[in-house]
Amino acid sequence: MDYMKWTPALEVGFAKIDEDHRELVAALNRLHLAMDLGKDKAELATVLNFLRDYTVSHFKTEEALMIQYGYPGAAAHFAAHATLVLKVCDFIVDFRAGRVAPTEALVEFLESWLVEHILGQDREFGDYLRARGVAA
Ligand SMILES: [Fe+2]
Ligand SMILES: [Fe+2]
Repeated sequence: MDYMKWTPALEVGFAKIDEDHRELVAALNRLHLAMDLGKDKAELATVLNFLRDYTVSHFKTEEALMIQYGYPGAAAHFAAHATLVLKVCDFIVDFRAGRVAPTEALVEFLESWLVEHILGQDREFGDYLRARGVAA
């Protein structure tokens, strides 16, 4: 059973962003499953790297749209993205070095970050795009 459920309440109303968010939820579920199944370090690293790479590419997609449509909240939104990416990258460095392992607390942190970010900054940006009449 999936750790985190996707619900329509998480939709921001812009198709590409919603698709990416679904994929991020799926990637988080794969991380949780890999931990539950006791997968080895190499497999956990693969799942973590995918999560990092997809996160970076999703953030780039949102940021490009913010620039393209002159979004006034862009700077704060970019900063929130950068803070998360740095945290995830730091974690992966420590994991590779054998200093930490993924825990339930990490998955819970990522889940709550994602939910709060989607329902807050991402939804605000989705509302902005809709108000500007940008086709989803
Ligand atoms: Fe997002
Ligand atoms: Fe975002």
